[in-house]
Amino acid sequence: MSMRAPVSDLPLVLTDATIAAGGVTILDKVSLTLDAGPPTMLIGPNGSGKTTLLRAAMGLLPLSSGRISWGGRDNASPARRAIVFQRPAMLRRSAAANIGYALTNATGASRAQRIDELLALVGLAGFGNRPARRLSGGEQQRLALARALARDPAILFLDEPTASLDPASTKAIEDIIRAVAARGVKVVMSTHDLGQARRLGGDVALLHRGRLIEHTPAEEFFAQPRTHEARNFIAGELLV
Ligand SMILES: Nc1ncnc2c1ncn2[C@@H]1O[C@H](COP(=O)(O)OP(=O)(O)O)[C@@H](O)[C@H]1O
Ligand SMILES: [Mg+2]
Repeated sequence: MSMRAPVSDLPLVLTDATIAAGGVTILDKVSLTLDAGPPTMLIGPNGSGKTTLLRAAMGLLPLSSGRISWGGRDNASPARRAIVFQRPAMLRRSAAANIGYALTNATGASRAQRIDELLALVGLAGFGNRPARRLSGGEQQRLALARALARDPAILFLDEPTASLDPASTKAIEDIIRAVAARGVKVVMSTHDLGQARRLGGDVALLHRGRLIEHTPAEEFFAQPRTHEARNFIAGELLV
């Protein structure tokens, strides 16, 4: 595969990143530096700003104030970044065509080979001719991952990729995330599942009401949370 250890879009640096909409501050002066390494897990209650942060870090949302830079550039083209939304939309075409659509610079035999490699990487070898919209929820989520990886991203943003999946499908997705991270892709993902944050995370960032409460190595986050918000969140108490 041509997936390599890309560095050009890293580090991803947010400096006082603020997004306000309709009189509400959705992201409140978030400063965060993410570098190459194991996955970064974004956690926090519903409405804390996780999706907004991922979209901003992808470069899809303009900031109200503050800045974001990728590898030192604040206008880096998103060519080396990819995002998978919570409910990915599939083209009304085959699984292979959904990946092919994202493969902008491969042609002929290498294109077909690349599609097969990506299908195999997400455990969908042999599914290429199936209509994408007929696949199960877990299979569609894996296809969405393959489609994102077709862009050979340096950073892969995932918004609650296992939110509506059963345990077997969740494990399949987690295995893919591990494999992708091991190939040097920086994964930045949100999750509701603290067990998942612990299993996959190199570091954990806790958001609450648009503010970054704590950003620490995952092991430390769960063993010795620094803030009372983190302690409450880990204990399963509602943060309001
Ligand atoms: N375009 C928008 N205009 C106004 N409010 C928004 C907009 N987008 C998101 N919000 C609000 O911002 C908050 C954070 O949303 P979101 O980033 O989706 O949180 P999370 O993913 O952590 O659940 C929510 O209260 C949401 O309703
Ligand atoms: Mg969300």
